[in-house]
Amino acid sequence: MENEDVLILAIESSCDETAAAVVKNGREVLSSIISSQIALHTVYGGVVPEIASRKHIEKINQVIEAALREANVKLKDITAIAVTYGPGLVGALLVGVSTAKAISLASGIPLIGVHHIEGHINANYIENKELEPPYICLVVSGGHSHLVIVKDYGEYEILGKTRDDAAGEAFDKVARAIGLGYPGGPKIDKVSKEGNADAIHFPRAKVVDSVYDFSFSGLKSAVLNYLNSCEMKGIPVCQADVAASFQKAVVDVLVEHSMNAVEEHGLRKFAIAGGVASNTSLREAFIRECSARKIDFYCPSPIFCTDNAAMIGVAGYYEYRKGVRHGYDLNAVPNLRLGENYE
Ligand code: KG4
Ligand code: ZN
Repeated sequence: MENEDVLILAIESSCDETAAAVVKNGREVLSSIISSQIALHTVYGGVVPEIASRKHIEKINQVIEAALREANVKLKDITAIAVTYGPGLVGALLVGVSTAKAISLASGIPLIGVHHIEGHINANYIENKELEPPYICLVVSGGHSHLVIVKDYGEYEILGKTRDDAAGEAFDKVARAIGLGYPGGPKIDKVSKEGNADAIHFPRAKVVDSVYDFSFSGLKSAVLNYLNSCEMKGIPVCQADVAASFQKAVVDVLVEHSMNAVEEHGLRKFAIAGGVASNTSLREAFIRECSARKIDFYCPSPIFCTDNAAMIGVAGYYEYRKGVRHGYDLNAVPNLRLGENYE
């Protein structure tokens, strides 16, 4: 058994992507299928949880079948089934968890519940075969902003997190305010390329009692105040300048906190993860800073930054190796914290 390949069938349905993947020995993605619901939610300006759950139910079986087909494997070849059980939208998570439990029960293949944020961090192992813990990772997604030390596989020390809005949430809210709509992050990324990032100075918030914590709600309010004052004074708003200046404020804070953490902890390896990690300007800033400081920088390709099941398969593999197996009492945990395990 020890010399056999470990094939993980992974399932992810925590938000608005229905995804399944097959991952071999933790680092080789044999297939990664993502069915995005973005077009469905765009008309509402954000993710509607009820619609997300219903769409997951419609799509999940097809997506899993496609993942097995594309990987050219049969269910009987699968070593374990890994599924995201939190954090996320409870109704959306339940679809993946129930499906994984049903397949596991029917086939006898072991079940492993995976933490969504751990999945994001583990996405770094897919294309960076040499990357191993310990290192520092910045996880920035729609619901989370964490700066962590990855001490070992599945072992994390949280250095800082957001006190209010997540980085992605700030992108989405500002995008809506300047008329770009949902999904905000990619749209701000694109339009910023035509704007002047130094046109407007927005605040870089500091959290007084915790140097690594983030706060983005003040920045969001500063953008809203700027838009209101322009309207009152009859000054036209340059969408690209606001987008670029806001993006620069976020990037500056993320880079400063991360580089301070890397320097203070003496680890010369740094990675980024989560949907916001696909941001062009953020990636460029980290490449520049890390190269100047002689720090090895790692990031997943954009397709593995935003939600996908391949990252869940990677995290599931390392859980499998540690002997983690879950029973059929595994449930969706919408507020699951990093480092918390299912009891
Ligand atoms: O990791 P993810 O796909 O889902 C969560 O776990 O939340 O992250 C989604 C978030 C959204 O807020 C989206 O606007 C943001 O990531 N995002 C971006 C970019 N692509 C996605 N933010 C900035 N620049 C991007 N290119
Ligand atoms: Zn995510």
